[in-house]
Amino acid sequence: MRILVLGSGAREHAIILALRSEAETHAIFAAPGNAGIAREAHLVDLDPLDPTAVLEFAKTEAVDLVVVGPEAPLVAGVADPLRAHGIPVFGPGKAAAQLEGSKTYAKRIMDAAGVPTGRSARAGDLAAVEAALDAYGAPYVVKADGLAAGKGVIVTSDRAAAITHAETYLPTGAVLIEEFLSGPEVSLFFLSDGDHVAPLSPAQDFKRLRDGDEGPNTGGMGAYSPLPWLTDRFGGEDEFVDHVTRAIAEPVIRQMDAEGTPFIGLLYAGLILTEQGVRVIEFNARFGDPETQVVLPRLVDPLSRLLLAAASGTLEDEPRPAFADATAVTVVLASEGYPEAPLTGRVLTGIDRAEEVDGVHVAHAATALQGGELVATGGRVLSVVATGTTFAEARAAAYEGLERIRLDGGQFRTDIAARVAQD
Ligand code: AMP
Ligand code: GLY
Repeated sequence: MRILVLGSGAREHAIILALRSEAETHAIFAAPGNAGIAREAHLVDLDPLDPTAVLEFAKTEAVDLVVVGPEAPLVAGVADPLRAHGIPVFGPGKAAAQLEGSKTYAKRIMDAAGVPTGRSARAGDLAAVEAALDAYGAPYVVKADGLAAGKGVIVTSDRAAAITHAETYLPTGAVLIEEFLSGPEVSLFFLSDGDHVAPLSPAQDFKRLRDGDEGPNTGGMGAYSPLPWLTDRFGGEDEFVDHVTRAIAEPVIRQMDAEGTPFIGLLYAGLILTEQGVRVIEFNARFGDPETQVVLPRLVDPLSRLLLAAASGTLEDEPRPAFADATAVTVVLASEGYPEAPLTGRVLTGIDRAEEVDGVHVAHAATALQGGELVATGGRVLSVVATGTTFAEARAAAYEGLERIRLDGGQFRTDIAARVAQD
């Protein structure tokens, strides 16, 4: 197949590595890509946010499938003209991408579909913010309504901090005040063709910057998959996945279809397992980063086949995606100053040596070659990924790989998958 992947993160590198691991050889184009992706795909100088330019490229190059990695091009409507021209595209159109682009839209869909989520109130001014904060009580959860690159959410017991956060995002329209939910978090991905869903294997993300879940929320500092502890709570991964499929994914997909905005692409369910049951904390309209880096290496089936089936409306004909028993752990290396103000342009070395560790590969995020040197160009720089038989093995390999990489001021968590590696 001729496949165009839009995006430039470690998630897109992971998607491309999965496509490359297939028996079939594909022609892969990436826009804009990064220094790691450049080794696997033809980099294309194309703005993923420009639907017309993407369509022209896809037509000129006779692309068979477009895979949209990040949320911004989806919300900008990159999928619509492709679909209108009959080019299979894995990713929802502008209207359906509101499931991620607007938290109030997502809440309305969940409400209409009867999907369990925390109570919330939309607040358009400070008085409404204060009233909602006091109605739910501490800890306070305040969310920007629109896309905010992982920075839109604050969870805090400090009422003044909650109000300051709301004041930052009120000028963009409105904020959402939500009741605080407590329990372990799970990211579960579903491929959707607008009508049918196919679940992938669950993962856990580490959202906070520092060890022990301290510090600000980030895009994600590490992840592991599968989640062995689901067995205690649900009897097994399959039982859990079946439950979420029936109670959450299918009702949402049916509701969106009924409203004339079918969701074609990746439905990311961000879940919290409360004492009262599974609750949705957010939906995303694309693969998670860094969860994808630990889910796709375990996928047994050819990814291109599944993505094409979703994009073409034929998911029902596919067997449920199968996953290897192997464990996978990823640790993210971020630049100094991330997430507030990452310092960029610093030299990055040791990736080749990291990949010499058994079971380890590196997914590049913000990297570029400048004057023959590899430099970090953004907040999350790369994901060191390790697979193993046990979590202890995968985790030790991931950290050994990471130790071999040098980036001045680089930050990473030292406790990714620590608990599951002990069991
Ligand atoms: P979101 O961007 O909505 O996924 O929120 C980012 C992170 O904030 C989540 O992964 C949770 O750790 C936390 N969070 C969001 N909503 C809630 C909530 N209602 N209760 C507790 N924690 C939350
Ligand atoms: N890792 C969280 C996300 O992709 O949104």
